[in-house]
Amino acid sequence: MGSKFVIRGGKKLSGKVRICGAKNSALKLMAAALLADGPTILTNVPLITDVMTMAAVIERLGASVSYETPDTVKINPGYSLYAEAPYELVSQMRASIIVLGPLLARLGRARVAMPGGCNIGSRKIDMHIRGLELLGARFEVGHGFIDATAEKLVGNKITLDFPSVGATENLLMAATCAEGTTIISNAAREPEIADLATFLNQMGAQIEGIGSSTLQVTGVKRLKGVEYKVIPDRIETGTFLVAGAITNGDVLLEDVVPEHLELVISKLIDIGADIKVDGNKIRLKGCRKIKPVDLATLPYPGFPTDLQTLFMALLSMADGTSIITENIFENRFMFVNELNRMGSDIRTEGRHAVIQGVPKLTGAPVKAPDLRGGAALVVAGLAAEGVTEVLDIYHIDRGYQNLEHKLQMLGADIERLGAEERSSNLRVIK
Ligand code: EPZ
Repeated sequence: MGSKFVIRGGKKLSGKVRICGAKNSALKLMAAALLADGPTILTNVPLITDVMTMAAVIERLGASVSYETPDTVKINPGYSLYAEAPYELVSQMRASIIVLGPLLARLGRARVAMPGGCNIGSRKIDMHIRGLELLGARFEVGHGFIDATAEKLVGNKITLDFPSVGATENLLMAATCAEGTTIISNAAREPEIADLATFLNQMGAQIEGIGSSTLQVTGVKRLKGVEYKVIPDRIETGTFLVAGAITNGDVLLEDVVPEHLELVISKLIDIGADIKVDGNKIRLKGCRKIKPVDLATLPYPGFPTDLQTLFMALLSMADGTSIITENIFENRFMFVNELNRMGSDIRTEGRHAVIQGVPKLTGAPVKAPDLRGGAALVVAGLAAEGVTEVLDIYHIDRGYQNLEHKLQMLGADIERLGAEERSSNLRVIK
């Protein structure tokens, strides 16, 4: 049985906190390192369980992975990679599918366990497969595995039905070593894609259109190992901004890229927060009265689906009714039932959630259903009256490094306990 967070709500957060490197970039850069003919050093890598799982995946493929410091990872693909990413690792983390492109480019074959769905939706990979077929790969799917082979990858024009982050990344990596030129249209534009493309170009790839929805890749013969710093995590940044807003606090976030959160910042200002941006710092002063706003999740630069749950928690105490529409995943309202047990008044209908603001939330034992739903329950607990216990926090450890320590530094009353432990310094209100 895992551990839990015990949170005594009502403390205003204040102080400063440094944001870590982006989970959703680091995982892909680690996979891309398999393309290099020498060692890669990644710095500003977050110390989270998804990164450790990805390290296990690429070690299983035959590469060597070592931590030079807590946030610096060295990856050496070596000379003979295996082509199989096993089920027990892929089932732990769907993002493992991102080794498909690099293995096809490097070995001409790949055997990856089907990632399966996860708590937020079916997570299909049809766009990954169709795009790689256009580059010359052949696929057989069966017995829970995807078997891909490619005599040779040849550049082609690919138009994605939807700007899928993972499909764009797999295709980008496969195209770097394909013969000739590849055009990826309707490509995803998330900052993590630009980080991957910049990293690949530093390795010797020839990618143009970085940051746009049309990427042009001219294939090259080899890619070399380089040293590279992962961009800051915009979702961790958004998480702490919401934590500051929901507790009417005053927080200063350092090592961030404000440009990656333009719409998030604008929504927080609409809600009533006072935000100052200064270089790689963002300062947020919360607001006593939270104003209701409507938001719809969309591919970047639209509102990020990964912050939908955090804003749901914040808007649950707004002075009015808000509507949130989740357009990216078909099942990302899982945590609403848990939040309603804390006194929120939210009804979901398909992709829409109607949030009637309530004057306060009350602490309760709740279960994290997934990574960002869990983070939202922690943030709700910071503002709730009384004690909140968040169980199944292994979900949260996948994407946040030392979440409770960072919140403690900001004045939150939160501790991590074993599932059966009782809090020593918290009066549990009967
Ligand atoms: C990445 O997932 C992120 N994960 C997600 O963050 C993020 O929510 C998502 O992008 C959207 O921004 C990582 O980077 C590891 P998609 P990914 O391919 O690549 C459908 C977090 O909390 N789809 O853009 O899986 C898919 O089912 C995680 O950090 C297809 O139908 O996202 C989904 O509904 C959660 N066919 C939608 O597109 C495909 O071939 C978006 O998926 C591919 C995707």
